[in-house]
Amino acid sequence: MRHLLDTKHLGREDALRILDVAEDMAATQQREVRKLPTLRGKTVVNLFFEDSTRTRISFEAAAKRLSADVINFSAKGSSVSKGESLQDTAQTLQAMGADAVVIRHGASGAPQTLATSGWISAGVVNAGDGTHAHPTQALLDAFTIRKRFFGDGSRGRDLAGLRVTIVGDILHSRVARSNVWLLTTLGASVTLVAPPTLVPQDVSAWPVDVVYDLDDAIAAGPDALMMLRIQLERMNAAYFPTEREYSRTWGLDAARLAALPADSIVLHPGPMNRGMEISAAAADSPRSTVLEQVANGVSVRMAVLYLLLAGERTEAEEDGR
Ligand code: CP
Repeated sequence: MRHLLDTKHLGREDALRILDVAEDMAATQQREVRKLPTLRGKTVVNLFFEDSTRTRISFEAAAKRLSADVINFSAKGSSVSKGESLQDTAQTLQAMGADAVVIRHGASGAPQTLATSGWISAGVVNAGDGTHAHPTQALLDAFTIRKRFFGDGSRGRDLAGLRVTIVGDILHSRVARSNVWLLTTLGASVTLVAPPTLVPQDVSAWPVDVVYDLDDAIAAGPDALMMLRIQLERMNAAYFPTEREYSRTWGLDAARLAALPADSIVLHPGPMNRGMEISAAAADSPRSTVLEQVANGVSVRMAVLYLLLAGERTEAEEDGR
């Protein structure tokens, strides 16, 4: 693997390979000595232009557990505030020896630009860009769903037959977009539920069903319900119902949780707006996988860094195609 920029262009076999390597990585994390020597001598740069808790820290943990050196860069407090460009920032970090750059950026397409511009030679991992993509979040979500439904030792298995319903602010959600492409590539069927103003205009080109009534979607009996964070920072009044109306109509409260099939699970990528899109009863219930998702994120990011920096490359990747 040369870069990981999105899931739309990630094939089934490549996606399964990442999930299978993540399973191996998860097994190593059960050992007394969790650190592997695999990436000794490599340097991973976390280049974060937007805030993050889970993604940045789990990439750091993943790199360290593979014995890589880690440089953490946060735009806040850096020379970005003096007007330094993405190109100059990235080249500065590459001059310090970066082998891989993990980038989060508010602009959709920034990781693609970094990977294809020729500014740097390091591998690029997208840790979330604008409303476009968050591929490692989708991979850890798929890993979590596979593990909950098929258990450990489900190597090579896809998600065929499972029904996943994604609820909330689809319009602004890179998590939703990445999950739609990855989950359907892996054979799951995906339904989106949202207020009409929070459904993207191009949704008819996505391989999904769209419904507007959460109770109807729950009555259909999904295997996994993924609640999305309402991104108030990207919202304006034209898009958003009142907070009270939103939580009453599209929030997962205790009654809706009870109406789900008994063996269904509830995902949330975090950070959660408790009381808005998800109630405390749902977030803390045994069906909630929120903290499993966080733990699985380290294994999945270990797999991605391993495949990027130590894995074999296909012929096309070697040719730079
Ligand atoms: N899910 C997610 O991307 O969380 P952070 O913003 O905390 O990284």
